[in-house]
Amino acid sequence: MKPFFLISFLYLTFGAVSSSSQQYESIFNFGDSLSDTGNFLLSGALAFPVIGKLPYGETFFRHATGRSSDGRLVVDFIAEAFGLPYLPPYLAITGGKDFRHGVNFAVAGATALDSQFFYERRIGKLLWTNDSLSVQLGWFKKLKSSLCTSKQDCENYFKKSLFLVGEIGGNDYNYAFFIGGSIKQLQASVPLVVGAITTAASALIEEGAVELMVPGNLPIGCSAVYLTLFGSPNKADYDPNGCLKAFNAFSKFHNNQLKLALEGLRQKYPHARIIYADYYGAANRFFHAPRHYGFFSGTLTACCGGGGPYNFNNSARCGHLGSKACKDPSAHVNWDGIHLTEAAYRHIAKGVISGPFSTPTVTSS
Ligand SMILES: *[C@@H]1O[C@H](CO)[C@@H](O)[C@H](O)[C@H]1NC(C)=O
Ligand SMILES: *[C@@H]1O[C@H](CO)[C@@H](O)[C@H](O)[C@H]1NC(C)=O
Repeated sequence: MKPFFLISFLYLTFGAVSSSSQQYESIFNFGDSLSDTGNFLLSGALAFPVIGKLPYGETFFRHATGRSSDGRLVVDFIAEAFGLPYLPPYLAITGGKDFRHGVNFAVAGATALDSQFFYERRIGKLLWTNDSLSVQLGWFKKLKSSLCTSKQDCENYFKKSLFLVGEIGGNDYNYAFFIGGSIKQLQASVPLVVGAITTAASALIEEGAVELMVPGNLPIGCSAVYLTLFGSPNKADYDPNGCLKAFNAFSKFHNNQLKLALEGLRQKYPHARIIYADYYGAANRFFHAPRHYGFFSGTLTACCGGGGPYNFNNSARCGHLGSKACKDPSAHVNWDGIHLTEAAYRHIAKGVISGPFSTPTVTSS
């Protein structure tokens, strides 16, 4: 009798824990390739069509879904944690489809600032997509009338919705860094990027959002593409984990400004709960203690790529001729040089949902 009793006791305990954390009934997500679950592919954009075929998607879905990874993304793990279905990409929504549990507006390559900003600076042609954060917000506004009707109805519905605003902004910097922008120049654009993010968050609150999560940027100095493009002969440019110090400091610079801006939003909208998700901290653990998270093969080298010291080769990127994927993506942090593996995203999601990488914590209400 005793073992059986113990098992049912544990079962009940865990059951209680998971049901008490089920406070969201829907999720609305805005962002870029870190959370796009199909919009970029559906938009017909051709800049990076390889995400539409294997090995993208090989680990979990066993086929390509338009996710820039081998499997699930942070947003998928967040949906799972709240017992919700994976969010349908906005561009896949047709008449009869049920999207009461949420919609994903993220588009790979999207920027926080509007494409006009980049066209005015003559780098618009580099953009993979024009579907910036404000375009995604427009999509949400268009869809809103099919989600709820009266003010009261919307209020009740959005009270139980989580609005994920980001990660977004990483591309605003990527495009400029990749064509030779300096860290100093890019620092000057941080307030604009952060401003675009907080403008979108404010607009969502005005539309009725009360539960928002805004993630910061990843440690880009540990990313295979940055390590390849900005490698340095000077050992002092690297931290003890082998990451580029100056670029990680840039991510922190953005994140600190974002955190300050969110504090301002909390004061402006005291009724809203605005959570900062520390993707930087959650991911930085991987580079500090990779084995603890199961990352046994090269923490900084991409799983899928076309050679080079970090297995990132711009002439043979993952999915293109001359590249191949590693045998065990779960032993790698980095998937294709730019994006992370499902294994890494799972740990980030866990670190955000169960702490300590969200402020205030996700589960306490
Ligand atoms: C973005 O918009 C510009 C004009 O505003 C257009 O020339 C360009 O083709 C668009 N890019 C994409 C990827 O749709
Ligand atoms: C990068 O890819 C190109 C094209 O496949 C190849 O010729 C080159 O040798 C690769 N570079 C490295 C460092 O593997």
